[in-house]
Amino acid sequence: MYFNLLVLHTLTRWLVLISLAYAIYRGYAGWLDNKTFTRFDNTVRHVTATIAHVQLIWGAWLYIISPITNYFLGNFKTAVHERQVRFFGMEHVTVMLIAIVLITVGSAKAKRQATDKLKFKTMAVWYTIAMVLILSSVPWQFSPLISRPYLRWFN
Ligand code: HEM
Repeated sequence: MYFNLLVLHTLTRWLVLISLAYAIYRGYAGWLDNKTFTRFDNTVRHVTATIAHVQLIWGAWLYIISPITNYFLGNFKTAVHERQVRFFGMEHVTVMLIAIVLITVGSAKAKRQATDKLKFKTMAVWYTIAMVLILSSVPWQFSPLISRPYLRWFN
């Protein structure tokens, strides 16, 4: 189960990044070109937030069963000084939770804005901040000490 969850979490990461990038693109394009906020834009806004919520579920589940986070919680005083363990036990979760809250709030606010321009602007700005946070907290394969593969597949 643990490994399969890790696979789901790592694959969903790409869905999060792709959907967020596309929503941001549509947000700025609509905002700056004074476009109409169509049903399709609304779907993009909504699907992007939903994918982030799915990732939150995988992440929270992983947090409960991961040997790394269990070690972190059970040995906090020593584990907090170990880079990789602290990253997954504390930093990754905190930053990603903030990013997902920003996506949730941004999505809800965009939906309720009075004009199309404001809908695009709200989506563009909130999603961009979330994207920066997410990009900074993914354990990229090139990251020293916290390196994780770009892709995994089910056993
Ligand atoms: C947009 C949000 C997120 C992205 C893009 C993301 C991405 C990733 C990636 C790429 C990994 C490495 C997976 C691997 O080794 O193949 C990872 C690990 C992990 N993530 Fe996330 N994550 C997100 C949110 C969260 C959240 C909200 C939580 C917890 C509530 C979480 C908990 C974890 C844990 C515990 C691990 C390490 C598990 C282990 O190696 O034992 N993640 N995440």
